[in-house]
Amino acid sequence: MPSALILGASRGIGLEFVRQYLGEGWTVHATYRSEADRVRLRDLGAHTLKLDVQDINDLAGIAWQLDGEPLDVALVNAGVYGPRASTVRQPPSDAEFDLVFRTNVLSAMRLVPVIAPLLAPSRGTLAFLSSRMGSIAEAGASYGMLYRVSKAAVNMVAKLAHADFAPLGVRVLSLHPGWVRTDMGGPNADVDVTDSVTGLRHVIGSPGAFPGGCFYDYRGQSLAW
Ligand SMILES: NC(=O)c1ccc[n+]([C@@H]2O[C@H](COP(=O)([O-])OP(=O)(O)OC[C@H]3O[C@@H](n4cnc5c(N)ncnc54)[C@H](OP(=O)(O)O)[C@@H]3O)[C@@H](O)[C@H]2O)c1
Repeated sequence: MPSALILGASRGIGLEFVRQYLGEGWTVHATYRSEADRVRLRDLGAHTLKLDVQDINDLAGIAWQLDGEPLDVALVNAGVYGPRASTVRQPPSDAEFDLVFRTNVLSAMRLVPVIAPLLAPSRGTLAFLSSRMGSIAEAGASYGMLYRVSKAAVNMVAKLAHADFAPLGVRVLSLHPGWVRTDMGGPNADVDVTDSVTGLRHVIGSPGAFPGGCFYDYRGQSLAW
């Protein structure tokens, strides 16, 4: 059976990926931060790994625990939005910047060299949960500035990971899940988490239709960087 690693699996989009891949009989490695989430993920049938993406010791622990583990799909999903009131007129504090950039960007940079080699033997897929809000081509309003800038940076990490690891057979994708009803997206978001993840899994699982080094939404639409 194929195997997936979901980084940031406790709730929202990450948890739905765990549910759907387990439902199809995959082996799923899922990361958590709290003990309650570890138990819930274990009871669903996932192999659990402790990971706070801001903690370099946890990252080293993941590298050690996954050493040599062949993977078909790895999803870098953990993320934070940061301050709701962040615009070009209201720049972030040091603490806000550190939280969002360490969680969304530095972790992605540090995870690539640990995770991408595990995908090479199966010519697997490394997917980053980015956001359309990170598209520079589409940028038109500055609300959510800190989050937008962080996701633009995540897109660059994905593109560079593609440049380095595509020659080894790893397909790297940047994905926009839609505006999804989760803790981050809120109750007024227009996409159900089941529909978002079903669509994203179709994109991830169709390498012929959706080649690496590109940015797609959950319906398979190609997005401009
Ligand atoms: N929802 C949307 O509309 C939307 C739109 C575009 C992109 N996205 C992206 O999709 C991804 C998932 O979003 P979501 O809506 O599912 O968000 P969510 O419901 O807020 O869940 C966030 C996930 O990230 C984890 N996380 C946060 N900080 C972490 C850290 N330091 N270490 C490890 N895990 C951490 C959380 O774990 P804990 O439970 O331990 O906090 C949780 O599993 C994010 O990258 C987000 O930017 C979402």
